Amino acid sequence: MMLHLKSADLKKQKMDILTVPVCEDKDLHEDPLIKEVIDKALKLDEFSGKKDESVILYDLPHIMARRVMLAGLGKYEKLNRETLRKMAGRTVKSCIAKEFATLWIALPAADRMNLEPSAGVVALLEGAYLGNHIFQKYRGDKKKKPLKQINLLTSRQTAGKFKHLCSKVATICEGTQLAREWISTPANDKTPEKFARSIAGLARKERLKVQVINEAQLKQRKLGALLAVAAGSQSKPSLVILEHKVPGAKKTVALVGKGVTFDSGGLNIKTGGYMADMKSDMSGAAAVAATLVTASRLKQKINLIGAIPIVENMLSGQATRPGDIIKSYTGKTVEIGNTDAEGRLILADAMAYAIKKYKPQITIDLATLTGACVIALGDHIAGVFSDDDELAGAITAAGEITHERCWRLPLPEDYKELLKSDFADINNMPSSRYGGAITAALFLAEFVDKTRWAHIDIAGPAYIKKDNAYCGPGGTGFGVRLLMEVLERI
Ligand code: BES
Ligand code: ZN
Ligand code: ZN
Repeated sequence: MMLHLKSADLKKQKMDILTVPVCEDKDLHEDPLIKEVIDKALKLDEFSGKKDESVILYDLPHIMARRVMLAGLGKYEKLNRETLRKMAGRTVKSCIAKEFATLWIALPAADRMNLEPSAGVVALLEGAYLGNHIFQKYRGDKKKKPLKQINLLTSRQTAGKFKHLCSKVATICEGTQLAREWISTPANDKTPEKFARSIAGLARKERLKVQVINEAQLKQRKLGALLAVAAGSQSKPSLVILEHKVPGAKKTVALVGKGVTFDSGGLNIKTGGYMADMKSDMSGAAAVAATLVTASRLKQKINLIGAIPIVENMLSGQATRPGDIIKSYTGKTVEIGNTDAEGRLILADAMAYAIKKYKPQITIDLATLTGACVIALGDHIAGVFSDDDELAGAITAAGEITHERCWRLPLPEDYKELLKSDFADINNMPSSRYGGAITAALFLAEFVDKTRWAHIDIAGPAYIKKDNAYCGPGGTGFGVRLLMEVLERI
């Protein structure tokens, strides 16, 4: 799909639909024709510009557009990036339902978005682009057609000034869509072999350096924690390493993503509804892989390592048992108190490996790690853990921009008690149910040495059961726009 910023003469330009965002308490548009339409609607008491309200007017005089849709934004002082994204996403969805191919959205005047004008433009483009994504590769019938083109209507001068943002937004949101596609794909179609091949294939095409460390090599290199999780599955594990290098870059950042293609819980099998959406337990991996692809496409000026451990957590005669003790890559022994606490095991090895081999200045991991984090922060907010105030601050600030909200939680030293094992160096299962997101993060902290590190628990926001303004049901792609924004700040 194409994004554009364009000027056009409303009297002459044919359009299926023009969407006009309207605030209830402020005039956002300068164009006299648009103002006239808004006045008309406001006078009719049909529409007042309240948030989420909309009205469609047909065949207006002087305007060639077949329909003009007024879309309410609510109060001007509450106007922000997310209101604009949502409005654009909803509009796109309604246009897809009506089977249009092109949508125009009237861009508010540059000084009337309650934001830096470029931020307003970006938000509208993002909402529109993300709202246009539909996961439907398993649909034989009733396939919907995404829009082919979305134009922000503005003056020639403004169009010239912000045109360059279109391709940048499209590339980043394409990354989010890619992560969504991977996450929503069912586990039978993304066994660890298939998922690793899918990442490696695309990454090579995008000129990243790719290494797929296979099972035999993992054994040789002693990534025992990763291998212990993979033991019960028919499917072979791997550690995919992606490298994005640019000449003259000062920093290397390692991004690590949990890639459990399905989490049955293992022998500590999950019960009832808890297993249902566990195809999404690779959302961290999807976000990291998509971020590396995106960084490569944009020639981002930073060196990146993507370390993506990929396994399936299943049960069989070969599966790791509760009570087993395994040796991790660092040499630390781990008692497997619970086979369902598998994410921390594969991350421990992947992070230790990436840190040892590539010596990044900063490491960030993304993982659907704990149900406890969802209990703490709900479905829509990720937990951030770091001893590094600057890094944690960069992540939460980036999340406010992209509306991938992150909330910092503590890493209290004394809670490490809860991970003590009677027989091994550490237990993967805490001795208390309480503070589960924290104890999981503390477990990871034992494997990152002294590198600057942050952990983001995305168990809540990675996946949604019901669609929202600019995302369908399934994987949300949470983390891709966030990480791209973080990379600009560190
Ligand atoms: N993949 C799950 C965490 C999860 C839960 C993700 C809900 C998304 C939604 C993880 O591997 C897990 O099972 N964690 C256990 C840890 C416990 C056994 C210490 C949990 O959260 O219950
Ligand atoms: Zn689990
Ligand atoms: Zn898991």
